[in-house]
Amino acid sequence: MTALLEAKNLVKHFVGTRSMFGRPTAFVRAVDGVSFNVKAGETLALVGESGCGKSTVSRLVLRLIEPDQGEISFEGRDLLAMGANELRAFRRDAQIIFQDPYASLNPRMTVGQILAEPLVLHDLVPAEQRQKRVEELLRLVGLEPRAARRYAHEFSGGQRQRIAIARALAVEPKLIICDEPVSALDVSIRSQILNLLRDLQQRLGLAYIFVSHDLAVVKHIADRVAVMNLGHIVETADAEALFASPRHPYSRALLSAIPVPKPQAKRSRLVLEGEIPSALNPPSGCRFHTRCPYVIDRCRSELPQLLSDSSGHLTACHRSGELPPADAILPSDGGLSPTLARLIAAFNRMEEAGTSGVGTDDATAPHATAPHANAPAGI
Ligand SMILES: Nc1ncnc2c1ncn2[C@@H]1O[C@H](COP(=O)(O)OP(=O)(O)OP(=O)(O)O)[C@@H](O)[C@H]1O
Ligand code: SF4
Ligand SMILES: [Mg+2]
Repeated sequence: MTALLEAKNLVKHFVGTRSMFGRPTAFVRAVDGVSFNVKAGETLALVGESGCGKSTVSRLVLRLIEPDQGEISFEGRDLLAMGANELRAFRRDAQIIFQDPYASLNPRMTVGQILAEPLVLHDLVPAEQRQKRVEELLRLVGLEPRAARRYAHEFSGGQRQRIAIARALAVEPKLIICDEPVSALDVSIRSQILNLLRDLQQRLGLAYIFVSHDLAVVKHIADRVAVMNLGHIVETADAEALFASPRHPYSRALLSAIPVPKPQAKRSRLVLEGEIPSALNPPSGCRFHTRCPYVIDRCRSELPQLLSDSSGHLTACHRSGELPPADAILPSDGGLSPTLARLIAAFNRMEEAGTSGVGTDDATAPHATAPHANAPAGI
């Protein structure tokens, strides 16, 4: 079966620094040879620490930015070769929802206008039926039709995210990229939005690329998971297989950072050493080698390829065949090394930033916290 979306060897480098004459002197290697596919109706989660390239991949596969290298196909058609008309049709098939629904919803438009806009843009519904369609969309995401007369700033964070989802659904897409869709929301609202996304997926057959730094959230929504580290995908597998038995040392470290619900439950921890490197000057060979407890000489010079086993579980590690099973990793002395503590902090940072501000999914609730610095503007 042809994948809905297929990305092959995507590369995107940004100018990191310039000389006093404006010439680039260093590049941020944000995405450096990333390949994956998404099947119709499935959820592929893209996970990794802040700055590993998740949002850049999202923008590349929507052609919001152009790759330096690589191929992208949608339903077997070459996305990078599409002309204006084909691209317009693709923009209907593929939508994006951002972390901060406040920044991506126009404050000068009513919710009704926001939802009608894509219908007009893509000439989907005759003018006399637009209001009815807007009301249907609002009901689909669990909002009252009267919400159409109000402005986005009158709603809580959870409700604004529902409006953003309704706007994405207006064009009846096949794929929605959800870039940290619940990170800015109060913990109590997150599960409502995740349940809504899952429910909509079942009813409408949507595929999602679900970008998140929060593996606890990913565990509940993903069919497959791709783990990213510094511009590379280091492991891809079915969610169940990855959470049960992660193979790449980086995946293991990330998973061991998920809080255990039962305090008495014991879980092994993989302790990482070394500094977190920068995408401006990534380590040679395996980009995880400065922090990997299993590093050997070969890792410092040779980039490991993402190789599949017979089940389709892909891992990019020179030593994946010889590492102990995840369950057999010896626990540390119970404490956290400073490096692992920083890693966990990196994963929890945005979560903490979103926990104050939206106490309830009620229309009268105050605004969500300030927009995430990296939140891109809406499209
Ligand atoms: N327009 C840009 N110009 C220069 N550097 C950029 C640009 N966009 C992203 N980067 C850099 O590329 C790297 C990857 O950024 P990206 O936003 O894709 O990461 P991310 O995984 O989405 O992080 P986060 O979890 O914080 O959202 C980072 O080092 C970032 O600073
Ligand atoms: S290739 Fe080497 S450094 Fe990289 S994850 Fe595997 S063992 Fe660690
Ligand atoms: Mg991002």
